[in-house]
Amino acid sequence: MTKRVTAPDIAAAKGLRRLSCLTACDYPTGRLADESGVDMVLVGDSLAMVALGHEDTLSVTMDEMVHHTKAVTRGVSRALVIADMPFLSYQPGVDKAVANAGRFLSEARAQAVKVEGGRAVIEPIRAMVRAGIPVMGHIGLTPQHLAALGGFKVQGKTAEAAMILMEDALALAEAGCFSLVLECVPGELARRITQAANVPTIGIGSGPDTDGQVLVIHDVLGLYDRFRPKFVKAYADLWNQGLDALRAYRTDVESGAFPAAEHTFAMPDEELAKLDRK
Ligand code: KIV
Repeated sequence: MTKRVTAPDIAAAKGLRRLSCLTACDYPTGRLADESGVDMVLVGDSLAMVALGHEDTLSVTMDEMVHHTKAVTRGVSRALVIADMPFLSYQPGVDKAVANAGRFLSEARAQAVKVEGGRAVIEPIRAMVRAGIPVMGHIGLTPQHLAALGGFKVQGKTAEAAMILMEDALALAEAGCFSLVLECVPGELARRITQAANVPTIGIGSGPDTDGQVLVIHDVLGLYDRFRPKFVKAYADLWNQGLDALRAYRTDVESGAFPAAEHTFAMPDEELAKLDRK
């Protein structure tokens, strides 16, 4: 049996090797991500957009996240699976936060959770860590704060805003987070936070000088055509390849070219003869 990557393995990789992470939202994307060999598979609440068709991440519920995480964990046997705590699943109070985080481990069989926010959410994070739940922090552009941030915007561009993010990062590491996502912060700031923090930083839209990178699998595969942020590198164009395949199927059905003999089951000749005599 393949050895599972653990949260302590990720923390221990700081300074030794670069870490890779992809999101997944169901069994096939979980399997694809795992078989690609990435260290971590994140069931990100971005699935609200790329899998459920919402405008942003705010509407996805705890039950929906658990449902998707269960499908992903059925497909991932080696990578560390991290489930994203959705909007309002941890902000209302420490007890609720721990109970919800616990569901991801006990019901959905994830091995860690991710929480958006800095020192404002330090108490729920401390309580989860005390309960034995590995927590990944997430600062910078935190899409659950979209309304307050005024849109998907790069964060930490002034010295003052950068200092706040630096202090948040150090506080989250001190609270026990095993790693930190830095989303859409300037590369210079990401490098400074990475040097200062004693846990791995996983960047998205934050330049090359973090300890690792994460991207949304639908963006990497070219499967989400509504919006492609500047920081994304698409390694395939599965949307258009898929569309070409589906159009070819429809054309074959309409012309009668599909199904052909090799897609059709046959009866034994003697049974057919009996049928024809009836
Ligand atoms: O929800 C998500 O996919 C994320 C990553 C982009 C870090 O939070």
